Amino acid sequence: MLRRLVALAAVAAFTIPSAAQAQAKPKVVAATPEEAGAYLLIVGSCHDCHTPNWVESKGKVSKDSLMTGRSIGFKGAWGTNYAKNLRSIAARQDENHWYKVMTTADDGEGNLPMPYHNTALMNEEDIRNMYKYIKSLGTATVERIPRGAKPGEEPSSTYIDLNVKTPVPAVKKP
Ligand code: HEC
Repeated sequence: MLRRLVALAAVAAFTIPSAAQAQAKPKVVAATPEEAGAYLLIVGSCHDCHTPNWVESKGKVSKDSLMTGRSIGFKGAWGTNYAKNLRSIAARQDENHWYKVMTTADDGEGNLPMPYHNTALMNEEDIRNMYKYIKSLGTATVERIPRGAKPGEEPSSTYIDLNVKTPVPAVKKP
């Protein structure tokens, strides 16, 4: 009987997740932190904005240009901003700072369309692994990223207009 109870307890220990496990956020597991980071930057759509020509080439870009930012601006209520060169940023800033920026929207200073509302929900290890991968790429400068423009100011480069527009209703013919 005792042996049977012990056996049951052992099964329970394996099948019932502890409270901590149940609450833990899902995370990506790979052979190395860098490999997990590389994957997360793809499925997290980070390249779409931060790697030149990623969208147009469906991800077929040289390693040199990965995460080097885009010179096409995003214009909205916040003015016009640019997806920055994250290789330069990873070289300048340490991993803890990166984690803070991603989880606090740069202390509330960060603007759309950077999806800070999503990165804030990511697993800490995932956020750190993205940094580790970018850092492992080393620095590179491909496109010159223009300076941002204030609301109402004309941007200095090509931009995508993200302002909400309401169509003018069509005039009905009598
Ligand atoms: C829709 C376009 C877009 C996507 C998708 C996107 N970003 Fe950004 N990102 C931006 C823009 C634009 C900025 C500049 C934001 C600002 O001006 O506040 C930015 C800023 C950043 C910064 C702050 C750099 C600094 O100033 O310290 C980091 C870090 C960053 N992005 C990482 C990521 C990561 C990681 C992902 C994927 C999970 C991602 N971004 C996805 C557009 C994007």
